[in-house]
Amino acid sequence: MPDSKLSSSIAIVGAGDVGATIAYSLVMNPVAGDILIVDPKEEVRDAQIQDLSDATFHGNTSTQVRAGTHKEAGQCDIIVFTAGAKQKQGESRADLIGRNKSILESAISDMQPFAEKTILLLVANPVDVITYFAQKYSNLPKSQVIGSGTFLDSARLRGVLAAKAEVSASSIDAYVLGEHGESQFVAWSAASIGGVPLEQTLLPNTKLDKDAIAEDTKNKATSIIENKGATNYGIGAVAASICKSILSDQRNIRPVSHYQEDLGVCLSIPAVIGRQGLVRTIEMRFNEEEQGKLKKSAEALKEIINA
Ligand code: 2OP
Repeated sequence: MPDSKLSSSIAIVGAGDVGATIAYSLVMNPVAGDILIVDPKEEVRDAQIQDLSDATFHGNTSTQVRAGTHKEAGQCDIIVFTAGAKQKQGESRADLIGRNKSILESAISDMQPFAEKTILLLVANPVDVITYFAQKYSNLPKSQVIGSGTFLDSARLRGVLAAKAEVSASSIDAYVLGEHGESQFVAWSAASIGGVPLEQTLLPNTKLDKDAIAEDTKNKATSIIENKGATNYGIGAVAASICKSILSDQRNIRPVSHYQEDLGVCLSIPAVIGRQGLVRTIEMRFNEEEQGKLKKSAEALKEIINA
């Protein structure tokens, strides 16, 4: 028996590996009745739709996957923006800004005017700077324009800590914050296992090499890209999870990229996510070292914005 008709709609702009994987995650864990795939490369777009439609049966869902236009995307509950160049081997995320900023600007102008309550979820890299420009170009309330940010990096970190602590990742609370990129940092002072601060929890037979763990987490995408050309499953699950938090108004706390008034950039700090998009930022008491790293991250992002 298919799920009761889901009424929300999600547009995915960009029918590449990432966009298609997000669509697949949304088909298999249905949160919306209508998924629009938007891409000027119509053959690729239509092939992705054909392929995805073959999965809807297994998702036991009434979710419809269809081709959409930018104009239709602007009227959806959520627009997931994945369009743009992806990192080639040896490229940093920041290297993509020139190409991806202009793709973003023209897509946003084609989508306007937006439905009043639409949420723009940016995934294309460099995601923090893309989120900043999406807020500028769209004129939507800043709370309705968020980026996947370091949610993916935090998931990677939790996986490593879960393995070391020999517990489920759902028992680990740990955040990578700042830029989804080179200047990200781990807020070790806020890390906990089952609610017990990491400092007070002896991990079974292992000493934590925090610097190595932070470095490996930061560089994980690079090693995947070197070997398979792109990452898509991790970001696919993250973007689908954010869509669910929004459409079900779950009020989860997630490290997503959003505008920081005091820093003048978009970067990731834990925030409450609901139907209105960003509900509120979780105020964190960083130690001195973490405050310094947060400022450095903001400066690094400002450099890319002003380049
Ligand atoms: C990732 O971290 C490439 O930003 C993408 O997987």
